[in-house]
Amino acid sequence: MTKYDAREIRALYDRGENVTRWIQDHEEADSNSITAILYSYDAQAGSYVDALKDPAARALKQDLGRELGALLGSLAPGSLLEAGIGEGTSLAPVLNQMGKRPAHVLGFDLSLSRLLFARRHLAENGYDSVKLFTGDLDRIPLASESVDVVLTIHAVEPNRGREKPILSELLRVARKHLVMVEPSYELASAEARARHPATAEPAARSSATPSAQVRTMRATAGASP
Ligand SMILES: C[S@@+](CC[C@H](N)C(=O)[O-])C[C@H]1O[C@@H](n2cnc3c(N)ncnc32)[C@H](O)[C@@H]1O
Repeated sequence: MTKYDAREIRALYDRGENVTRWIQDHEEADSNSITAILYSYDAQAGSYVDALKDPAARALKQDLGRELGALLGSLAPGSLLEAGIGEGTSLAPVLNQMGKRPAHVLGFDLSLSRLLFARRHLAENGYDSVKLFTGDLDRIPLASESVDVVLTIHAVEPNRGREKPILSELLRVARKHLVMVEPSYELASAEARARHPATAEPAARSSATPSAQVRTMRATAGASP
């Protein structure tokens, strides 16, 4: 992976420049490279927690928590993993609404900086037992069928072109279910379809966009997505 100066990337982000595109231009990459995803999300570390100061953003998260918490609660998992957990700002309201909470909750992300915010945010919400670690969606550092329910919330979205290996990996780790809250091209409005994702900075996309669809899949060992 090419290394960039994190301060330079942060300065670009603070100036409102498109970090993903800047890195893609440097790498002459056609699709979102893992380097571009890592640096662009890392540069915005803290912004999701910060966004919760806005009551409207908090209310959106609570809506997400209610809907997803009810669904996940009905699956009664003993263990739950959020893949691409970011700062834990979705997981906390989801756990709040689950009723009986899983005994084991885990989360990983590409960005260590965001995980540090997640650790503090989850602890402040009473979830200091959530196990956090770094990792890549297409090479999850967990054994096969090791977690009852695997959850993604807008984490697969930036990985255009790698959806198939990522889905295989998520299904490999999930013992019972994979629940995905990701935009669906097939189910999106004409307006959303017209918006080409390659031109959008991940920072600009809300983690609860209306085009997001909740999909539950029963995990099957060796299933190809
Ligand atoms: C839009 S944010 C959503 C974060 C969180 N799921 C939420 O709902 O707040 C996407 C997150 O997925 C992470 N991510 C994207 N691609 C990833 C990959 N290949 N492996 C691990 N994490 C990834 C990013 O670093 C970022 O934190």
